[in-house]
Parts: sequence; structure tokens; C-alpha cells
Amino acid sequence: MILISPSILSADFGNINQEIASVEAHSDLIHIDIMDGHFVPNITFGPGQVGKMRAHKPFDVHLMIENPDRYLKDFADGVMKAVGPEFYKESYLVVHQEATPDLSGTIRMIKALGMKAGVSLNPATPWETVEHVLDDLDMVLCMTVNPGFGGQKFIESVMPKVAKLRELRPNLLIEVDGGINVETARVAVGAGANILVAGNYVFGADNRKVALESLRAS
Ligand code: DX5
Ligand code: ZN
Repeated sequence: MILISPSILSADFGNINQEIASVEAHSDLIHIDIMDGHFVPNITFGPGQVGKMRAHKPFDVHLMIENPDRYLKDFADGVMKAVGPEFYKESYLVVHQEATPDLSGTIRMIKALGMKAGVSLNPATPWETVEHVLDDLDMVLCMTVNPGFGGQKFIESVMPKVAKLRELRPNLLIEVDGGINVETARVAVGAGANILVAGNYVFGADNRKVALESLRAS
């Protein structure tokens, strides 16, 4: 089964709750891109803003930030306010391998908060860097663009990494993020991905429901 996680990075930030409401019925998760201006050049939402969001689906919080341990509790509190206790338990905090010196410790902290734990790999980061935590993780995110901005081109050379992770762990949730549209979704799913993040393709579409359903069918 393929799960769909629209990225609100491409939504209208001035009407964020209406934007979430426009996609959530046809989505499995809502992807929230957190950027700190250090790990990536762009800046988006802090935990207070996440806490003002409202959704009826679990959040998939992609932390493109340095020193994520320091902010896990604050983002967890924001997610609890946004989605309530039932969806909170099904929500993910996803840290970047490149920004996390002690992945095992960070994953333990996320789980102690009662949330699901994910680790994200930049396109150039090899799968071996997460081999030691594969049994502790709920999801691996393979970036298919260099993180920081929406609307970039899908990097197909990431697909062997997705395929290798799929070979190693047949039941692992493997998410892809960046440049996903109906064609690249097919390529990623063919390699073994089972969660698709899409920003521009969904929020830029004339009909968001049709765009979301086209991804699900890929
Ligand atoms: C990029 C973000 C993505 C972004 C994807 O750094 O992590 O989630 O929103 O946007 P599209 O789908 O437009 O490439
Ligand atoms: Zn993202």
C-alpha cells in the first residue's frame, strides 16, 4: 500500500489550516517541513506555529534543523495541539542523519515522547549510515532533492539506495521527498518506496484531489 503525504511547503502559509483541510481527506499523513536557516538555507515554521495548525490526519514532521534533540519536545507538543492524542501517536518526527550525532539516542527520545521515529538521508548520504538503527526506526526518508526548497527536480540516482533499503527490510516504510509527480512517483514506487511526499504537484494542481489520487495509483 502506498501512503500519500502532501507537503504544505507549497501551500499558502497565510491560510494554512484551510490549505490542510483542502488535502487531508485524500491523504494519509500531512508533511510539515521545518527549516532552520542553518541546516538548510531556508526558514519555515517553529513549534509554536505547528501548534496553531489543525488537522485530522497524523503529521509527518521533517526536521531540517541542526541539533534536533534540543527541539523534539517542543515540536511534539505542537503536534499534540495540532492533531490531538490519537493522531499524535501515529505522527512522525523525522531527523536528518547528517544533523544527528547520536541517532540511536535521538530515536529513543522520539519514542519516549510517544511518537514514531524517522531518519532522513540527503541524496549523497549512503544507506550504510543508518544500517545500525534500521531495527529501531519506523521510517527512512530518502531525499530525492537536496533539501531546502520545493519545486526542484527529482534525482533519480537516489533509486539504488531505495532499492537496497527495500531489499534489506521488506517491511520498512520508505518515504521519498522532492520532485514527486505522477511519473517520478512510479519510478520511486518501482524502486521500493511506499510513502510519497509531494508539494508542488499537489498544491499547484487545478484539482488537488485528482493529483493526490493519481499519486496513490502510481
Ligand atoms: C524540500 C522539502 C520537501 C518539499 C518537496 O526540502 O523537504 O518536502 O516540500 O516539494 P516538491 O514536491 O515541490 O519537490
Ligand atoms: Zn520534506
